[in-house]
Amino acid sequence: MRVSSYFRMIENLIILALTGLVGRSLAWPSDPVPHLHIKHREVIGQRFLGNESHVEHFKLLERAPTFILIGARNAIYNISLHDLTEIADQRVQWSSTDAHRELCNLKGRSDDDCQNYVRVFGRHGPDKFLACGTNAYKPQCRQFIVQDGAYVGGGDTDGLGICPHDPQHNSTAVFAGGQLYAATVADFSGGEPLIRRERIRTERSDLNQLNGPNFVSSFAFDDYVFFFYRETAVEYMNCGKAVYSRVGRVCQHDKGGPHAFSDRWTSFLKARLNCSVPGEYPFYFNEIQSTSDVTEGFYAGRHDQLIYGIFTTPVNSIGGSAVCAFSMSSVLEVFQGAFKEQETINSNWLRVLAEKVPEPRPGACVNDSRTLPDGTVNFVKKHPLMDDAVQSFFSLPVLTQVSFNYRFTRVAVDPQVKALDGRTYDILYIGTDDGRVIKALNTKAPDSLTEVGQVIVSDVQVLRYGTAIKDLQVVHLAGEASKLVVIADSEIRAVPLHHCDSQAANTCVGCVALQDPHCAWDDVTHTCVAVPTKLHDNDASKTLFQDIINGKHKGCGYQQVNIVSEMAKPVLPVVPPRVGHGEQLDERDNEIVIELDRENQYSRTQPRANEPQGVIVTPVVYSAQTLTGALIGTCFFSLIAGFASGFWFSQRLRGTPYPDPPEQRQQLNRLTESSESPAGFNNKSINLVLNVPPKNPNGKNANSSAENKPMQKVKKTYI
Ligand SMILES: *[C@@H]1O[C@H](CO)[C@@H](O)[C@H](O)[C@H]1NC(C)=O
Ligand SMILES: *[C@@H]1O[C@H](CO)[C@@H](O)[C@H](O)[C@H]1NC(C)=O
Ligand SMILES: *[C@@H]1O[C@H](CO)[C@@H](O)[C@H](O)[C@H]1NC(C)=O
Ligand SMILES: *[C@@H]1O[C@H](CO)[C@@H](O)[C@H](O)[C@H]1NC(C)=O
Ligand SMILES: *[C@@H]1O[C@H](CO)[C@@H](O)[C@H](O)[C@H]1NC(C)=O
Repeated sequence: MRVSSYFRMIENLIILALTGLVGRSLAWPSDPVPHLHIKHREVIGQRFLGNESHVEHFKLLERAPTFILIGARNAIYNISLHDLTEIADQRVQWSSTDAHRELCNLKGRSDDDCQNYVRVFGRHGPDKFLACGTNAYKPQCRQFIVQDGAYVGGGDTDGLGICPHDPQHNSTAVFAGGQLYAATVADFSGGEPLIRRERIRTERSDLNQLNGPNFVSSFAFDDYVFFFYRETAVEYMNCGKAVYSRVGRVCQHDKGGPHAFSDRWTSFLKARLNCSVPGEYPFYFNEIQSTSDVTEGFYAGRHDQLIYGIFTTPVNSIGGSAVCAFSMSSVLEVFQGAFKEQETINSNWLRVLAEKVPEPRPGACVNDSRTLPDGTVNFVKKHPLMDDAVQSFFSLPVLTQVSFNYRFTRVAVDPQVKALDGRTYDILYIGTDDGRVIKALNTKAPDSLTEVGQVIVSDVQVLRYGTAIKDLQVVHLAGEASKLVVIADSEIRAVPLHHCDSQAANTCVGCVALQDPHCAWDDVTHTCVAVPTKLHDNDASKTLFQDIINGKHKGCGYQQVNIVSEMAKPVLPVVPPRVGHGEQLDERDNEIVIELDRENQYSRTQPRANEPQGVIVTPVVYSAQTLTGALIGTCFFSLIAGFASGFWFSQRLRGTPYPDPPEQRQQLNRLTESSESPAGFNNKSINLVLNVPPKNPNGKNANSSAENKPMQKVKKTYI
């Protein structure tokens, strides 16, 4: 155990070092710098707080055109999207019974845990729906119907395996074709994950199917229901363990298998999602956190349906986040491809040859899965994993960010926003775990699938510093300004989709430099205006300046060049001591300064006592390259230092062998006793790790067949 984790650390260091080296030549995309920073106290807008006496654990249950339903503690809130106020008399109250609460307390749970957090929702009709809640660690579902204009609860059913016990559990559920599909856990301790619908489910404790999954999203598409999640990778054969991102799917018309398989899926398949920065050693963002809805658009002249996902590095590594896009057509294609298998416990994971795949094709959607031959059903049960990974749609992530301060959590898309040049861009709104919303776009998307132009238009501290963003929704309402609804555990907030009217954008150069398809400089009124999409075709666009690709427009003239360079300057390492002008100088102060709005009465405008007066402290932001450089340097230095000290010790201690602790000596004795030469162990070197080559029952050379596993497998025997 200790040895393997040590090897893993070394391996990670090497991978990091190599990525750094390769990255240098192949250009790791440098983190883009936001054109606009907006502090929390400048954020105004509607908000909804629910019951402020406790944490609500808000969860978006349904998004309708004019209202949203929010699952919370002992309640479902019906909230108007016009102003984020609760719609009168539409709250559904649903608490656990005292008996359930007492039982929950007896199980050792806190009072906050022993409440009913509503997590799952399925609408049967305009006045009928099903909801499921954690119900004090005893999940339960309830039918609701309208009576006299208000919803009342009907029959209760067991919610085990549909709704998690813990409101924070990473579960997902979707209602499609009149049935509820859920991906969650079926036991109190969270040890039995499953994907289920009615009576059909994944196999119990089969690590090939699900291996410690964290589910992030699900939706119906075509004949399928898709699930996005991350899990421990069974196919990862090096030392230690790795988490991979997955897309799994089942057929909506799966009726279960024949005979003994009647309550198991015959169509559950999964594939890896590849979100990485290419290079000789690609750098992987392995852990999916969320996905957007499916969006539709034209990319480099090609029509496609995309899903955007947030991917991060593991929590205990350097904080990296990325947004990758995947086309639904390539997802479907991978599920038509080869399967992956491991013939015996010691062999490599390999592509299953086409002739070994039975007919009809395992996992395909059929009219009646109960009539499938056993061969097909057995095959799909043993081979749920596809050989190919789903590659990201653009050759690079749409956005990457290396930061110690925050990670991305959510992404929402305002799809296909038309710029004045006639091109259309998907505008991404990315939530972070410290309360920001980053607005970004890929400026090359209309022209290229092989290049990415990462641009961050703005970085807004929407929530209090440190509050994680749990969900984002882009809302377009007729006759109203569009907005972004930001959902956190105990707060819902609406902010504008753009900040064209911001102070930094009140010059022609500043406005055009935003590279925001939502904003353009109006040369008649001399203001930075929001561009209504209708306006494009008429003459008004002649007096509107915008340049998405470069952020420069000749209509602005070049006399204000100094402002351009100020806007484009990434990080100011030393801020000139121009204190007193205040505000717009310290753009980056959200990185460290905790600023709350007035209601919270906690804003930091005075420097801390130990800060030198008159100097603005700018946080040091390291780039990926700097980090890798430092890492390589450190490794190199430790190697030399280690060698030197080892050499010195060996010189000093020559002739005086290490005294062995008694128990270790006993073990060594046992080992040497059985061998032929019972010579003293002082002059005999004993290898504490025995490398035993694996048995290979097929007589195949395990090495030659490894297409992506250059390492030879060894079995370790620890003494
Ligand atoms: C808020 O919740 C508490 C229990 O935690 C309850 O006593 C109180 O009535 C609730 N307030 C409102 C306004 O619903
Ligand atoms: C929520 O409010 C809307 C608009 O008033 C209403 O149509 C709907 O029935 C309400 N409740 C639910 C559960 O949808
Ligand atoms: C759920 O996901 C969040 C965010 O990725 C993570 O921090 C948390 O540990 C996960 N919960 C569990 C129970 O694994
Ligand atoms: C993932 O994508 C990268 C390119 O970004 C590629 O080099 C690598 O081989 C892919 N990995 C897998 C497992 O498909
Ligand atoms: C499946 O059912 C549809 C109608 O329900 C029918 O048109 C089709 O031929 C059937 N397919 C097979 C393979 O039986």
